[in-house]
Amino acid sequence: MRVIRTVSEMVELGGGDLGFVPTMGALHEGHLSLMGEARQRNKCVCVSLFVNPLQFGANEDFDRYPRVETRDFELAERSGVDLIFAPTVPEMYPKESTTIHVPEVADLWDGLARPGHFVGVATVVAKLFNMVRPRDAYFGWKDLQQCLVVRRMVEDLRIQVHLRFMPTVREGDGLAVSSRNAYLSCEDRAKAPLLYRTLIELATLLARNHETVDDLLRDARARLAKHGFDVHYLELVSMVDLKPTNTNRGTALIVAATLGKTRLIDNIQLDGFSL
Ligand code: PAJ
Repeated sequence: MRVIRTVSEMVELGGGDLGFVPTMGALHEGHLSLMGEARQRNKCVCVSLFVNPLQFGANEDFDRYPRVETRDFELAERSGVDLIFAPTVPEMYPKESTTIHVPEVADLWDGLARPGHFVGVATVVAKLFNMVRPRDAYFGWKDLQQCLVVRRMVEDLRIQVHLRFMPTVREGDGLAVSSRNAYLSCEDRAKAPLLYRTLIELATLLARNHETVDDLLRDARARLAKHGFDVHYLELVSMVDLKPTNTNRGTALIVAATLGKTRLIDNIQLDGFSL
């Protein structure tokens, strides 16, 4: 496995039958599943480790985001990764960068809650695509809105890459695996799986009866609040544009809620559609 620190070296080694997994490091089972898929499909697997300052708000966790490079290198090596691209911030952003604003789908939900977040994501992903020039790039459905933002950018800018979206990897109790789960206190960690359980219960109820979508969503939000979640949104949305809907075909349930100081997101797709 080769560790690349500079953009010029990455550009030199990129291209060809390369599967790319962009990450911010602190690798976990979710990242490893993307690498496993890339290993199966592509001749060369490249993983980027870069905590991208551009996608963090001023009051967010950029400074305390976990950075565990040595451990990440070991995990990547064991997963059969060929290239690690781990640039510094000045290497990626030597001067103020041109940025990319994806319309519509980036302006909802987390785009509202985290102004500038998806500009940061789209910009860094576009830069990384140009440096790595992957044939396939792998993203997790866990960050559904991010998947749709990247897909829209790739379509609009005609970026030559095949996007592959992979299912959410979960802990045994259903909590979506995330680097940020480490911030949860013991007590909150015990409560956190209620988020996924709520989505599953809602999906089951909606499958039976979708005239009462608004009532079901309202009850579910209230139940989460009662258990200490500060619910930012819990909605049934179209998988195409992420706008609220009340059918259950081609839709997803999406949720974001803060527990303690930790913001958790999750989603499940309902029948009849896949990205
Ligand atoms: P990061 O949060 O490190 O996630 C990297 C990739 O792993 C993303 O595609 C994310 O959706 C996926 N992932 C995270 N948790 C997962 C899980 N439980 N199951 C499956 N996949 C999971 O997302 C980012 O970094 C950044 O925004 C990035 C795209 C790298 C741009 O900076």
